[in-house]
Amino acid sequence: MKLFLDTANLDDIRAAARLGVIHGVTTNPTLISREKGDFSAIIREIASLVDGPVFAEVLSTEAEGMIREGRELAAVDPAVCVKIPMTEEGLAAASVLAKEGIRVCCTLVFSAAQALLAANAGARYVAPFIGRFDDIGYDGIEAVESIADVLSDGDFETEVIAASVRSPLHTVEAARAGADIATVPPKVLFQMAHHPLTDAGLAKFMKDWTASGREV
Ligand code: E4P
Repeated sequence: MKLFLDTANLDDIRAAARLGVIHGVTTNPTLISREKGDFSAIIREIASLVDGPVFAEVLSTEAEGMIREGRELAAVDPAVCVKIPMTEEGLAAASVLAKEGIRVCCTLVFSAAQALLAANAGARYVAPFIGRFDDIGYDGIEAVESIADVLSDGDFETEVIAASVRSPLHTVEAARAGADIATVPPKVLFQMAHHPLTDAGLAKFMKDWTASGREV
């Protein structure tokens, strides 16, 4: 399972990209709202920092507006994948954009039925939100498993992006549930790199080395 970074913060993207583990970046209107500057300029800058798709979301709620915005966003950079909310209007817009060769991600997906519609509309990605589903007492990982299962018959190339990831455990469970990608916030990505036994093991190696009289 590949990892994307879920942020629009350039410093965080630079820090994560340095590790060589990021294959794309997802943004949404909330994440963009936290950053200063022009939307297109931010997307372009992100695209220059990572090798992989950069996700930018439309704000219109009617298909016509989504299509117009989708075309504009796709023209910002070849790496752009247009995020469209999973609504009837969103499906109508996704099918038009997909036929034009624009990569679309259906976002805010919470059921296998929605994912099937998105795949049939030509969405390249579907993004089920694990954490937000957990928040209201459902099992977000179970939703990912069900979505990955119904899309696994090979009829479509639609990939499942596990989103709204809140912990390293979510990430691992998403991989086990069959997600193709997990998009993780910077905090979770850096948490994933750490383990107390790694720190303890490293400290002991250093202590033993220097105790033998050798220099580092
Ligand atoms: C997905 O692409 C979204 O940007 C994101 O994962 C939403 O997560 P949240 O529930 O933490 O806002």
